[in-house]
This record gives sequence, C-alpha cells and structure tokens, in this order.
Amino acid sequence: RRDSALVVMAVAINQEIRKNEDKVVDSVVVSELSKPLTAYCRCWKSGTFPLCDGSHVKHNKATGDNVGPLLVKK
Ligand code: FES
Repeated sequence: RRDSALVVMAVAINQEIRKNEDKVVDSVVVSELSKPLTAYCRCWKSGTFPLCDGSHVKHNKATGDNVGPLLVKK
C-alpha cells in the first residue's frame, strides 16, 4: 500500500545567481527607471538577473511550471 504522507524535498530555487551572497536582495527606485515598463525575473533563471530575459519560457516548458516576470511601470 502506498503511503499517502506528503514528502517534501528541500531544493534550492536559486541554482547559480550570486551564490556568494547570504541573501540576494535588489531594490528599485521606480522614478529612476529608464523605460516605462521593466520586467523583473521571478524564476531565478535569467542571465540578466534581476531583469527578465525570457528564460522563464524555457523553464516553464521543461517543468510544467507557470512562472513569469514582475512588470514594473514607471
Ligand atoms: Fe525569470 Fe523571465 S527570466 S521571469
């Protein structure tokens, strides 16, 4: 009989971005943004982190996930 207990595995979300830091924190002054709309990464796969470079599309296709960027409007 299969055990119905939930098994939780600890897996790091961030696989490679700024791993030398204890905590990856960024801040944005909205009034200083150069573009009217800026996309920030929430999937931790972007090569331009903290900005979104579209890598979430590949991640979502590979994993069935549904992550996307945070859009900040100036
Ligand atoms: Fe991470 Fe777009 S690349 S949300």
